[in-house]
Amino acid sequence: MLHAPAQYFSLASTSSSPPAERPFVIGLPTGASPIGVYKRLVNLYNDGKVSFKHVVSFNMDEYVGLPRDHPESYHSFMWNHLFKHIDIPPENVNILNGNADDLQEECQQYEDKIKSYGGIELFMGGIGPDGHIAFNEPGSSLQSRTRVKTLAYETILANARFFGGDVSKVPKLALTVGVGTVMDAREVVVIITGANKAIALAKCIEEGVNHMWTVSAIQTHPRSLVVCDDDATLEL
Ligand code: GLP
Repeated sequence: MLHAPAQYFSLASTSSSPPAERPFVIGLPTGASPIGVYKRLVNLYNDGKVSFKHVVSFNMDEYVGLPRDHPESYHSFMWNHLFKHIDIPPENVNILNGNADDLQEECQQYEDKIKSYGGIELFMGGIGPDGHIAFNEPGSSLQSRTRVKTLAYETILANARFFGGDVSKVPKLALTVGVGTVMDAREVVVIITGANKAIALAKCIEEGVNHMWTVSAIQTHPRSLVVCDDDATLEL
């Protein structure tokens, strides 16, 4: 995305036809972790250094049953922190609809749409203290695709801070891209900050690939990057 000003990216093609041109397709997270990145991108946009006109975004996840305009929906989060401040065409923004009549169909269509763009170029993610990426809670298949997921109690507790500390107000279900969906991206960047993520970071990079710490799947990705602060490294 940082090299996105009004240009298209071409994919190498194995067919005899010329490589198709396509927009830059990015996967985006919510949560406190990416807020600094979003602020920086907005500043770069305001300074005329980047444009998002040819960017297509797919968000990682969304709560089920929370109205789209609820202040804590991931729709609200993304528009408030990024999209309303930049020139991305609204039709290029893709966020799972946690109020769809048929949630499974919604998830399948999301996967299909990602494929229709030729996949995601860069997936940026954050993690939960239990090592989940997107809402791929401990025990998720590392091959998982976009689907409905029941949130782990630890995640509900961690996210209660966004709902006035009231655990009962945190949705218990979410739609999320799968670990496999994230790993299919050509590059993956994971932002891990804070002492409460220190164990997860250690599990992620110093122990084996393990479906109980789903972010550890990035060890198998040829182009992955972990960005962390000092606090997150306490267990390394
Ligand atoms: C939620 C989201 C994740 C996000 C995580 C971390 O669980 N579903 O995608 O990575 O929060 O949030 P934070 O950055 O606020 O710690």
